[in-house]
Amino acid sequence: MILLDGKKTSNDIKNEIAAEVQKMKGRGEKVPHLAAILVGNDGASLTYVGSKVKACERVGFESTLVRMSNTTSEIELLDKIDELNNDPDIDGFIVQLPLPRQIDTQKVLLAVNPDKDVDGFHPTNFGKMALDMSTFIPATPFGILELLDRYGVETKGKHTVVIGRSHIVGRPMSILMGRKGFPGNSTVTLTHSHTKNITQITSQADIIITALGVPGFLKAEMVKDDAVIIDVGITRVTDDSLPKGYKITGDVDFENVSKKASFITPVPGGVGPMTIAMLLKNTLLARERNMN
Ligand code: GUN
Repeated sequence: MILLDGKKTSNDIKNEIAAEVQKMKGRGEKVPHLAAILVGNDGASLTYVGSKVKACERVGFESTLVRMSNTTSEIELLDKIDELNNDPDIDGFIVQLPLPRQIDTQKVLLAVNPDKDVDGFHPTNFGKMALDMSTFIPATPFGILELLDRYGVETKGKHTVVIGRSHIVGRPMSILMGRKGFPGNSTVTLTHSHTKNITQITSQADIIITALGVPGFLKAEMVKDDAVIIDVGITRVTDDSLPKGYKITGDVDFENVSKKASFITPVPGGVGPMTIAMLLKNTLLARERNMN
């Protein structure tokens, strides 16, 4: 079994990006600038956005965190998005999800200028991705592709089973794994809450990508020998014996599934850190596009 080490790989990627930034500085160019809008005080979102800002510092990007209160109206948020769309100093920005219930998420995602949409959530970018056109690929799926690529995991002709059809992970992943090229050229099955006999499907999979958010969902008996296992689950499970009072738990019963797998991502330290590295990569791409 080989561990797909997202912590190490994301560090390698950050070092590569930092080297690019140094080159930009050497040429007297402006460094990439990422902004993040955080509406409200959701604990997990605060942690994620904090990690994104820290990652920007680490590679030498500029970053701006825009915090808005939990009672922000849709129009106030749309105004802020408009401001960032028109700010020539900002190369890319994200609106951290989820948003408070008074705000229509679809409307918000549509308002982001696709050229600054480093999350790749705008329908224009999603469509380009599906059509094999150059675009911003959503950071988590992009991070999974990068892990598969850097570890040389064969995907061509393999049966990939994706569990979960979220707009952020499952749906784009199912498209990307079936695209031409590497990593891709897989035969993809997208499963979700209405899928019947899921064990019958997962036990035929060469590659399983699970993005469900149900701790320990994928058990050893659902997996065939030598399968490749990608765990996107990051659920906070309360554990009072730990200093933080919780632990981050994946969708995979790691202890037992890892004994059968050929490659597997740990949680934490697998897909999670890759997501941040690829957001930086998309921001670098946005900056480079701005210069042409
Ligand atoms: N919430 C959970 N994942 C993400 C992500 O990748 N981007 C944003 N903007 N919000 C998220």
